[in-house]
Amino acid sequence: RLLIIDFGSQVTQLIARRLRELNVYCEIHPYNRVDEAFLRAFAPKAVIFSGGPASVYWQDAPMPPKGVFELGVPILGICYGQQVMMHCLGGHVEGGHGTAEFGRAFVTPAAERLPLLEGWFEGGTEQVWMSHGDHVSKIAPGFRVYGTSPNAPFAITADPERHFYAVQFHPEVHHTPKGAKLYENFVRLAGFKGDWTMGAYREEAIRKIREQVGDAKVICGLSGGVDSSVAAVLIHEAIGDQLTCVFVDHGLLRLGEAEQVVTMFRDHYNMPLIHADESDLFLGALEGVSDPEVKRKTIGRLFIDVFQKHATEVGGAQFLAQGTLYPDVIESVSFSGGPSVTIKSHHNVGGLPEKMGLKLVEPLRELFKDEVRALGRELGLPQSFIGRHPFPGPGLAIRCPGEITREKLDILRRADAVYIDQIRRHGLYDEIWQAFAAILPMRTVGVMGDGRTYDYALALRAVTSVDGMTADYYPFTHDFLGETATRIINEVKGINRVFYDCTSKPPGTIELE
Ligand code: XMP
Repeated sequence: RLLIIDFGSQVTQLIARRLRELNVYCEIHPYNRVDEAFLRAFAPKAVIFSGGPASVYWQDAPMPPKGVFELGVPILGICYGQQVMMHCLGGHVEGGHGTAEFGRAFVTPAAERLPLLEGWFEGGTEQVWMSHGDHVSKIAPGFRVYGTSPNAPFAITADPERHFYAVQFHPEVHHTPKGAKLYENFVRLAGFKGDWTMGAYREEAIRKIREQVGDAKVICGLSGGVDSSVAAVLIHEAIGDQLTCVFVDHGLLRLGEAEQVVTMFRDHYNMPLIHADESDLFLGALEGVSDPEVKRKTIGRLFIDVFQKHATEVGGAQFLAQGTLYPDVIESVSFSGGPSVTIKSHHNVGGLPEKMGLKLVEPLRELFKDEVRALGRELGLPQSFIGRHPFPGPGLAIRCPGEITREKLDILRRADAVYIDQIRRHGLYDEIWQAFAAILPMRTVGVMGDGRTYDYALALRAVTSVDGMTADYYPFTHDFLGETATRIINEVKGINRVFYDCTSKPPGTIELE
């Protein structure tokens, strides 16, 4: 296995991701938790030093553990990792002087070839992504230069005899197109075969859950979404009935959703599951509420109350399981330092663990969405479930702009089911990040048969996206839209007009509220 020593870069997790794409098992450990004894126990086959925001001249500058250079294994230093490596091995690092570099740069090769760079420089220079204030001004003894950029004369340096490699740029980001190739070369040089799989991750995660939890009880808020479902199945596999899931049904779910979730987890997986049907409570509290933020906050508050009530009934739980993913981890840290504007109050159970005195179990914390799906497949969850579009915590409440009524929710559920059925029938479901219907707060006049109608209007939304942060509207054909509108109006009483939302994000958001 490979050890990544984290010096605090914002993109350290991406290094792990690149390595996992190469089927190499790696772990990230913060520099200040790694000492000589740890190194001996971990016995890494190779080490990577991440980048980081520090300067080697800071008083308590983060340093690699003693003995790491004597392990006799390949080491790759990235950005701050390069600087700290040079600093430790007898080189020199300088700050400022207008040599800070942020963004795209082009690296030119030196005459001597380096196996780490196999596949590089086929077209002359190579684009890389730089992000550094300090820079190396003198390389350490034994090192030679293998690539330079206009502002980084030591863009790529190495001591090939000892297998120490150090680069100034970030090979893990997409803006370094050949970065993945560099990692591939590095792990090959270190002797990895690339035979680590999601199956191995599952084993390792189960071992860690058992170790963390012991014989304590765990509760898990199951939403029916992919993340909490995969987390629940994994934890259940690790500790069996020590886990109890609480499924809070706020009455704002899609057609048949509650039954599907309960059937799958209770009957198929045989998990202890509390189905908290609290729709009266939620819909009662939302009566007459039309402001989006008030809706979100009301639902968030009640959700926590209800969850807490049922969790307390289970009794004696010491852990709360959450399907936190790596993107949730990065998004929750403010790197800007300043307050950012709240566009929407996201629904989560953030404050709950402290309030209830619970510790967290977050077995998906290091995974990206597509890796969670792969793990779900590994655990035998059906593809129809794993591939489902994201569904927001506040549910249909935010797809019903204005006041929510049971009548509107009922119409919306049926219309949404027809729309999704259309998308599936046309084989488009997996091309789309998220598709849903929203019922608009207006009635319009129509004519059906020989009669006048005065019914609700429906908006259809479908977007493509990689992470939900930005999105494009999906370009359905006119035929598809026409057929879908006709089906919805024919099949769903209460709708007499259908719109398609062609707004991207930004300026729109994905949900309507
Ligand atoms: P927006 O509407 O902000 O949505 O463009 C981006 C993504 O986040 C989902 N979403 C939520 N997910 N709790 C969630 O768990 C929420 O409160 C929430 N609000 C929006 C939305 O469905 C989309 O995938």
